[in-house]
Amino acid sequence: MGKKVVVTGVPGVGKTTVINGAMERLAAEGVSYEPVNFGTFMFDVAKKENLVSNRDEMRKLGKDVQKRLQQAAASGIAAMSGDANIIVDTHSSVKTPTGFLAGLPEWVLRELMPDIVVLVETDPDQILMRRLGDESRTRDMEGSRAIAEHQEFNRAVAAAYAMYTGCTIKIVRNENFLLEQGIDDLVSVLR
Ligand code: AP5
Repeated sequence: MGKKVVVTGVPGVGKTTVINGAMERLAAEGVSYEPVNFGTFMFDVAKKENLVSNRDEMRKLGKDVQKRLQQAAASGIAAMSGDANIIVDTHSSVKTPTGFLAGLPEWVLRELMPDIVVLVETDPDQILMRRLGDESRTRDMEGSRAIAEHQEFNRAVAAAYAMYTGCTIKIVRNENFLLEQGIDDLVSVLR
């Protein structure tokens, strides 16, 4: 069985950046991982059903619709994983207009059964600045305090994922000017 690693973090913390750096490093060592973006799986279905025109609209959809898209993504990813090592870029929780939605509820965990859940974190002020600097996305405008609360909630809900699956929880810091350190940390759990 391949290793299943789920990488999470609030929008704009730099999950994808750290994953890409780690994949590059591991490829040079001959260790291969299949990268999977959970949001892309959801978006493909949502687009086909004309529910949204961009991926940032998905978290505003009704809770039951998001849960259905989640389920579809989880089954799609489980079907493709087989014996390969996979790294899933996703969210510990999603901030919706009606509150936090668990990114890995029971029906998703049952499909994925991760070995490790990684929480990518950094200081809320840095995340705020990264969001403001990223014009390619429609980010929620929220202050540092709300971002800090979201990161706290992500840790709390990740504890439940560990209880359910027996996975380990790894916290990777992705600080300004210290991206390489974050990549090193992620590589150490992927090797
Ligand atoms: P997704 O596309 O994963 O949304 P996201 O979190 O906004 O992802 P991004 O790729 O935009 O952010 P990132 O943290 O990867 O940051 P990046 O590396 O780009 O998901 C889309 C949607 O799908 C969600 O909103 C949700 O609706 C849905 N979804 C997904 N999973 C779900 C689930 N399980 N359940 C329900 N719904 C789900 O970096 C951001 C910026 O920071 C870049 O400009 C980068 O250059 C910069 N940066 C990164 N690191 C550093 C550093 N160390 N120093 C300085 N700058 C840095």
